[in-house]
Order: sequence, then structure tokens, then C-alpha cells
Amino acid sequence: MQSLFSAMVFAHICSATIPEDIEPCQKFAELLREGRSKTTLENPYNYPAEVLVDAETAYQCATSIPISNEEISRVIYKYKNILPMYSTLGFLKNPPASYQQPSIDVMAYLDLIYERAKQNKYANFYEYESDISLMAIQVHDQHFRLKNSGMYQFRWYLPDDIVSVSKDGKELPQVYVYSDISRDVPSASPIIELEDEPVAFYLERYARTKASTGLLEPHAEWNALMYNPAVEFSTWGTRNTSSVYTSEFRSTSSYNGNSIKGKFENGTKFEWKYMAGSKAIYNLTKFSSGRSIYDNWITSNNKSRMGKTKEDEQMRKLFSKKTTAFNLSSSVPYPSYPDDPIVVQSNFSRGGTVSGYLLSDNSTGVLSIPSFLAGTYKEAPEELHTAVAEFITKSREAGVKKVVIDLSGNRGGFLLLAYDTFRQFFPKMDPYSLANSRASEDLNTIGSVLSHVAMSSNDSFKGPLNRTMAQSLGTGDLGIFGTLSRESKPWKWWKELFGPVTINQDNYTNPWRYDFNSKRMIGRLGFNMTGYADNQRDYEQAFDPDDIILLHDGHCGSACFIFSSLMKNIAGVKSVSVGGMPVDGPMQGVAGTRGCQVRQSDAIIKISHMIQTALSEFRDQSDKVVRSRLGATRRQIDRLPSPKGTPWGDVIAGINTLNCLPSSGSQIPYQFLYEASNCRLFYTMDMIRDITYLWRAAAAVAGGDTSACVPGSVDGPGSEPNKPLNVSPEIPYANPWGNSVRNNLPRDEPVQNSGGFCTVSRVGGSVSVAAATFAFAWLL
Ligand SMILES: *[C@@H]1O[C@H](CO)[C@@H](O)[C@H](O)[C@H]1NC(C)=O
Ligand SMILES: *[C@@H]1O[C@H](CO)[C@@H](O)[C@H](O)[C@H]1NC(C)=O
Ligand SMILES: *[C@@H]1O[C@H](CO)[C@@H](O)[C@H](O)[C@H]1NC(C)=O
Ligand SMILES: *[C@@H]1O[C@H](CO)[C@@H](O)[C@H](O)[C@H]1NC(C)=O
Ligand SMILES: *[C@@H]1O[C@H](CO)[C@@H](O)[C@H](O)[C@H]1NC(C)=O
Ligand SMILES: *[C@@H]1O[C@H](CO)[C@@H](O)[C@H](O)[C@H]1NC(C)=O
Ligand SMILES: *[C@@H]1O[C@H](CO)[C@@H](O)[C@H](O)[C@H]1NC(C)=O
Ligand SMILES: *[C@@H]1O[C@H](CO)[C@@H](O)[C@H](O)[C@H]1NC(C)=O
Ligand SMILES: *[C@@H]1O[C@H](CO)[C@@H](O)[C@H](O)[C@H]1NC(C)=O
Ligand SMILES: *[C@@H]1O[C@H](CO)[C@@H](O)[C@H](O)[C@H]1NC(C)=O
Ligand SMILES: *[C@@H]1O[C@H](CO)[C@@H](O)[C@H](O)[C@H]1NC(C)=O
Repeated sequence: MQSLFSAMVFAHICSATIPEDIEPCQKFAELLREGRSKTTLENPYNYPAEVLVDAETAYQCATSIPISNEEISRVIYKYKNILPMYSTLGFLKNPPASYQQPSIDVMAYLDLIYERAKQNKYANFYEYESDISLMAIQVHDQHFRLKNSGMYQFRWYLPDDIVSVSKDGKELPQVYVYSDISRDVPSASPIIELEDEPVAFYLERYARTKASTGLLEPHAEWNALMYNPAVEFSTWGTRNTSSVYTSEFRSTSSYNGNSIKGKFENGTKFEWKYMAGSKAIYNLTKFSSGRSIYDNWITSNNKSRMGKTKEDEQMRKLFSKKTTAFNLSSSVPYPSYPDDPIVVQSNFSRGGTVSGYLLSDNSTGVLSIPSFLAGTYKEAPEELHTAVAEFITKSREAGVKKVVIDLSGNRGGFLLLAYDTFRQFFPKMDPYSLANSRASEDLNTIGSVLSHVAMSSNDSFKGPLNRTMAQSLGTGDLGIFGTLSRESKPWKWWKELFGPVTINQDNYTNPWRYDFNSKRMIGRLGFNMTGYADNQRDYEQAFDPDDIILLHDGHCGSACFIFSSLMKNIAGVKSVSVGGMPVDGPMQGVAGTRGCQVRQSDAIIKISHMIQTALSEFRDQSDKVVRSRLGATRRQIDRLPSPKGTPWGDVIAGINTLNCLPSSGSQIPYQFLYEASNCRLFYTMDMIRDITYLWRAAAAVAGGDTSACVPGSVDGPGSEPNKPLNVSPEIPYANPWGNSVRNNLPRDEPVQNSGGFCTVSRVGGSVSVAAATFAFAWLL
């Protein structure tokens, strides 16, 4: 497989053959059907990116999907029920000066949407989604997602990507057309204007209104607009059902007009036309009007809706056969990567994404971990573990001096794999790290009940809630099992853990750490974690901390944050970040979410439901009996979130439920602290064409040579282990775009006719959300 897009076809537009007076969605459906019949898909999951039709028709279809304002208020009510478990609500409203983004009051924002709905102001589904999406953009958290049913249908694509590169690594980067750089076009000229505005100015506004990056740092947001093979690979390679993913600039789920016009420095003007694709639709028979999409899709509870047709299934089977003969040596994993890896994870690009390399004289080893997520099958975590182990063994045998751990594009995955990977490098070091939850009333109820039932002698309830189940669900943040206090002591009862502690005008639980010596934790990955029980290593540390360097491009978050944080704060490993806006100065390489765990509302609701089912046995009993058997009152249990009264098929909120805290005793979650990398590099043209240039530059920094680092970026604020900054880093650039004045709240006027300014959330590509199953959701 070459670059995923080398074969991207723009389907023919045949609007002439379709009468003008038909419904826009019917027209869209017919164009797609026609495009589909003319396109040979190598991977049917790439359908939304590869079968592309007229952009404006898609927009007209999108805005013709009706909505019920009454239903919106019910949906908002449901979201507001679950959000008290969102761990950063209080700090988002009132962040410390170290936070690089504006504040947002999520509850107040939802109230405004609720009010607008009460006043019947939403004319169509797209308008409503635009407001939800503008909020999500401002939350800057990859773990935060409000998903409504099947609306993530439309996506608009540009024909090429952009990259931001410096001529010599020192000069400030400029924005180029990706294909000019990848094809090494002589005298390629940078883009200086988009839509008659200076290019950086345009991209800044675009990032604020169109790009749902979930990133904490303006430099990282800039990077997310650029072509990045690691981000693409981390998205589609971890699942055999993932579709292609593109940069937030190349594609958007918010209509941005029919085209983008621009100007190169050499004076030549250009226009890039948008084309539209849709994810859901293999068979379009139910797609004949906005109304039918609403009735058959958005409000439907039928899980086998459109897109799950026989044709679809057959194509997937076909694809499955075709790629079992996947030829690794010619496809690892992008043309800019070397084709001679020493290690690739099993089922590479079909469940695994880790690969390892030796550079030239074997003095440098590179371990590329673009994701901690692996496969949908139970051996997958161990396959990732094995790839890392093999890399360490082989590079030690080859006498490697410096190790680059490339975490570009890594937006997380299984959080226990982050701990395990740390222990593979440092099997004797204690992976001590702290976390807490927002001490909401519902967390208190769930935690009380699970802990109580798990420890009680009489555990016979109707339904699935028995002692074993309560112990399993209560391991981690929802109970007292598998975790220890700050002082590494086990908990006696739930109250001891719950607290609450008041911080920044909000309530939190006491901080805790995982207890990896506990039997409950050991088994979670399907194998014993490195350095525990029988899984020991014959070395103290695989490499000296000074001989390892972490490489970040701003995307690193979630499990990647946990891994990076352990490497930095426990072992003292340094890091390099790459890219960012065309200004000198430091960059935070770990700018994805620094939340420690995401949970999906449907998983929380399932647990609530189990508890409520157990309660139903006590219909005629006193509150005292309920309390003594379940550990909570009837009133507390009754008010737990439930799916009842939800008008649309899937109304799911993904929320971060755990804050990661510094061990130093600071009570501010890592999410809001500032931590620069030890050095920042600009991308050069060579690095875009051949990633080993980037790896060599990072290895040089590990060797102590900081001459290539961007001025002002060496050992920047918060780069020292265990000393994250909670005051302003006073970054030497005038206008980091995230701090520019912006309107936090939904507009009062409908957004319908404002052309380029409507936004909808992006097509699901967020790795951390995809795999949440209910009992084990806490793994992510
Ligand atoms: C100007 O630069 C662009 C982008 O590299 C290129 O496509 C175009 O051909 C150049 N125009 C001229 C007149 O050289
Ligand atoms: C898909 O649509 C085609 C019409 O284009 C129809 O013939 C076929 O029966 C449909 N398949 C399914 C499974 O609905
Ligand atoms: C769900 O949708 C599928 C495909 O559209 C249909 O065949 C099936 O009868 C529906 N099931 C229900 C319960 O409505
Ligand atoms: C993807 O992997 C799963 C789990 O191994 C397998 O059951 C499924 O058939 C695969 N699907 C495709 C399209 O290859
Ligand atoms: C895999 O690709 C390499 C390089 O293109 C080629 O030499 C080799 O024969 C291929 N192997 C198979 C099994 O197709
Ligand atoms: C993963 O790869 C192993 C061999 O390395 C194979 O046995 C297994 O079936 C693969 N699993 C899937 C789900 O493809
Ligand atoms: C590099 O290591 C490999 C594998 O250990 C070995 O085969 C090769 O000879 C080494 N090359 C050099 C230049 O030492
Ligand atoms: C256990 O609970 C059941 C059902 O509530 C009850 O009938 C039984 O007496 C209880 N047993 C003990 C030992 O408390
Ligand atoms: C507890 O409930 C689970 C799920 O319903 C069930 O699989 C298991 O057998 C039960 N265990 C006991 C000890 O009753
Ligand atoms: C925090 O907890 C205290 C004591 O439990 C309670 O009185 C107070 O209302 C809570 N504050 C918030 C903001 O929930
Ligand atoms: C974990 O280690 C223990 C010994 O300490 C062993 O009994 C057990 O089988 C191991 N588990 C796995 C999954 O390897």
C-alpha cells in the first residue's frame, strides 16, 4: 500500500443528468451511487474519503435534515445528567494561567443551547450540531465528545494537503502544498494567502471554528492542520475496520464553502475545490430526503440501520481476504518511513502499529509507537507488548547507543500498556502517578454501591450485580479495588477514597495510584505486566535514561501522556517536539488530553442500570434495609443517569473521568499545567520526504547536541521532571491563537446562512472512543 491517497479518485459529477428540482438529499444520494459504481475501493472503509461528489449538494442535504427543538432540550438534559462526572468541569471554567486556551463554562454553554431550543431557534439538525461542535472545539480535550445518533455523515475534502516546513531548520517555517514537497518539486513556492488573508491568519481562524483537534497547545493545533503520516496511521492501522483519516485542514465536517482560493509567493493563484463524501451510506435507499434521514437514522434505535447492508458485508469480507497477503517489507507504513524495520507488531496495520528500526551504523534505534491502541481481539495488547520487547532485545544486541521513541500522532489507547511500556524500559522503577475524580453525587453512589456489594456477605440480587461483578467494576476509579492512597495504603472503605477535597471551588476525590501488585490489576491486559509476578527482566534498565529521547508532535495524549509522563518524571528521560507555528520559542510536545481515562455515557448508564435493577428487589423495604444491603439510599440510586426518555438512537457523551495529578502535591490537574519539551525542532523538507532525517535530528539532541533546536526552546518552562508550571510560561510570541478574543457561546442568530462559519463535529476518528466496551472502559 502506498500513500493512502495516491489512488484517491474524485468521482465524476453528473449533475446534468439529475433534474434540479429533486430533494438535495436524493440528489446527493444519486451522485454518491453513481460515484460508487465508478470507483474501485481497495479498502471499503475508505468509502467516505474516496467516493466524493459535489460539495454544495452535500451541504444542501445536510441543512435539509429537520430537527425537533423539543427533542433537543431532552437530549441536552441527558448530557447534563452525565456531565457532573466530567473531571475538568471546574478547571475549564476557571483555569490557571499556565493553561494555553481560553476558559469555557460547559454547563452554561449547554444551558444556552437548551434555551435556544426552548425558543424553537434551531431550524435544522446541522445548526444544532454546529453549536455542539463549536463547544467541543473550545473544550480542547480529546476525551470530550458529544455524539448524536448518526449525524456524522458529511465530510468535505480538499484535493491536497499542506505542510509547514523550514528551509534549513532555522528559518521560520512556511506553509507549502504537501505534494510539492513530497515530489520534491524544484523551486516550490510557499502559500502566502488563503481567501485573501495572510495564510497564518486564515489558519488561525480555521482552527478556532472548523478543526476539532482536542489539543491543548496552539503549536499542536497548527500541526493538526498539516499532513502527518503518523496521525493517519495511528487512526487506521489499529483497527481493521478503520477508514482513512486526513489532517483537519484537508478535510472537515463543517462546510467551508465550495473551494478555498489562495496565492503562492511566486504570484501564482490557485483554487482548491472541496468535494463531499459520506461515511454511512453503502446503500442509499433510505436517503431520499432530509426527513427520511431524520426518521430512519437519527431518531432510530435500530442498530442495523443504513450502511449495514448485505452489499457492505460482502465487500468487507472481500477486503479481508485481499489483505491477508499484506506485504510488510514494501509498506512500513508510509513511503517516508524506511522499508527495513527490525520489528513490526503482529497484524501490522490491521490491529497493530508499532515498528522499530536501526539507523545506518546501528548507533541509533528508533521505536515508533503511533498508538497504544491495538486490535479488537484479546491478544492485541500482548502483541504490542511483544513488539516493544523485541525492539529492546534487538537494539541491545545490535549495540544501539541512542534510542528515539517516536510518539508522533499517538493519541492514546490502552492505558495499562503505557505503564507496561514504561516498565519494559525501566522494569525496577515504581510507576507512581496520581489521579483523582470529580466528587459528584453519582460517582459517590456508584462507588458506594460497588464497594459495598463487593465486600458484603449476602450478594444475591436479581440481575447481574453480584459480588464478582461489583469487584470487577469497582477496580479502578469506581470502587476501592486495585488502587492505593497517595501513601500507597489500601482503602478500608469508599468514604476514605471519596473525600471530598475542595479545590478551585469544586469537589474532588482523594488522589490515588494504581496497585500493580494486586491480582486484580495483573490480569487486566491478558498477561502479567512487565516487572511484576513472573514477568521479570534480566536488566535494571534497558537503556540509560540519558540515551533515550521521546519525540512528540503535539498530538500525544491520554495513554501517550501517561507513558511520557512516567518516562520524564520517574526516569528523567528528555523529549523533543517538532513543528508548531512560525514563531521561535518552546512548545509543549504532549498537548493531547492529559486526562487519565475516558468513559462513555452508555457504559456509565449500564452500570447505573445494574444498580437500579438490584434496587428493584427492595420495593417494599425500608430505606434502612436498602442502605444496609446496597450501601446507598433509594433516592441516590433513583437519580443515577438512565437512558429513559432519550429521543434519538445513540446519544452518547464521551467524558474524561480521571484527572492525572503531579506527584509533587500540586492539586492542579496536568491538563492545565505547562510543560515544554527540552528542545523544539522545525520540520524541514527532508523530514517530510524521509522521516529518518527527523529521527537523526532527535537522536542528536539525545547526544547532547542542541544546535538544531529552535531559538529559545532548549529546556523551556516546565521541562524539568516533576516541575510542571502552574503560572503563565510567558511564551515569547505575541498572539498564540488560542488566547485571542473569541466568542465562547453560541450565537443568538441562526448560523444557517453564514456560509463558512458552521461547524459540525468531525467524523469519528478519535481512537480513544472507538473501543470502549462497558466493563473494561476504564482501560482506555
Ligand atoms: C508557483 O508556485 C507554485 C507552488 O509551488 C507552482 O505550482 C507554480 O507552478 C509556480 N508558478 C510559477 C509561474 O512558477
Ligand atoms: C441497494 O440498493 C440497490 C439499488 O441501487 C438495490 O438494488 C439493492 O437491493 C439494495 N440492497 C440492499 C441490501 O438494500
Ligand atoms: C432494522 O433495520 C433493518 C435494515 O434496514 C431492517 O431489515 C430491520 O427489519 C429493522 N429492524 C427493526 C426491528 O426495525
Ligand atoms: C477484523 O478482525 C476481526 C477480529 O480478528 C475479525 O473477526 C474480522 O473478520 C476482521 N474484519 C475484516 C474486515 O477483516
Ligand atoms: C514484498 O515486497 C518486496 C519489495 O517490494 C518484494 O521484493 C517481495 O517479493 C514481496 N514479497 C511478497 C511475498 O510478495
Ligand atoms: C494476529 O497475528 C497472529 C500471528 O502473528 C495470528 O496468529 C493472528 O491470527 C492474528 N490475529 C488477527 C485477529 O488477525
Ligand atoms: C547492525 O545490527 C545488525 C543486527 O544486529 C547486524 O546484522 C549488522 O551487522 C549491524 N551492522 C553494523 C554496521 O554493525
Ligand atoms: C440475603 O438476601 C436475601 C434476599 O434479599 C434474603 O432473603 C436473605 O435472608 C439474606 N441472607 C442473609 C444471610 O442475610
Ligand atoms: C455474577 O454475575 C455474572 C454476570 O451476570 C455471572 O457471569 C457470574 O456467574 C455471577 N457470579 C456469581 C458468583 O454468581
Ligand atoms: C463540596 O462538598 C461539600 C461537603 O461535602 C458540600 O457542602 C459542597 O456543596 C460541595 N461543593 C460543590 C461545589 O459541589
Ligand atoms: C502471572 O504470574 C504468576 C506467578 O507470579 C503466574 O502464576 C501466572 O500464571 C502469570 N499469569 C500469566 C497470565 O502469565
